[in-house]
Amino acid sequence: MTDMNVLVLVGSLRKASINRQLAEVAVDTAPDGVTLRVFDGLAEVPFYNEDLDTDSVPEPVRALRAAAADADAALVITPEYNGSIPGVLKNAIDWLSRPWGDGALMDKPLAVVGAALGRYGGKWAHDETRKSFGIAGARVIEDLELSVPASSLHGAHPRESADVVTAVGDVLGKLVASVG
Ligand SMILES: Cc1cc2nc3c(=O)[nH]c(=O)nc-3n(C[C@H](O)[C@H](O)[C@H](O)COP(=O)(O)O)c2cc1C
Repeated sequence: MTDMNVLVLVGSLRKASINRQLAEVAVDTAPDGVTLRVFDGLAEVPFYNEDLDTDSVPEPVRALRAAAADADAALVITPEYNGSIPGVLKNAIDWLSRPWGDGALMDKPLAVVGAALGRYGGKWAHDETRKSFGIAGARVIEDLELSVPASSLHGAHPRESADVVTAVGDVLGKLVASVG
């Protein structure tokens, strides 16, 4: 397989985030030749403001857009907040959607997965994240779905769940296969 970069965006800033742990599972399951880069600067990205979106955007935005530009695909891993997309992730989508029609993820394959406490594992947030990234210009792979109810993990790291590890590996494999 040709070398590929996959940008990973995590919608939780919490140190002990289950979604960050899912990102660790994704890194562990990456096929040979595929490098996953978990972007760790989302907390520094300012709220989207068209007045800031000039030729000299703030450095954290430049870093986010550069990481997206370097990527062949993106894997978004997010919890659900109040039935929807966590603000930190929505803010990243808004920055990545500009310049309109020429954003850094334009036409690149993108999958959305994640975990949340509720019984549907954050499915509302995942559906809305797919919708929003699609409007922002990414090529969302709609049938790649994984919404993990946190209770199914029984407090353990998701890498302890063979089902979750298999499912994450499956999503990543299909995401990478859709590049090109
Ligand atoms: C502000 C806030 C809103 C939340 N809203 C929801 C929700 O709508 N649905 C849900 O299933 N869980 C909700 N939760 C619980 C999260 O799913 C849970 O805290 C999860 O562990 C967060 O992901 P993380 O472990 O990656 O930080 C909410 C948590 C917070 C802090």
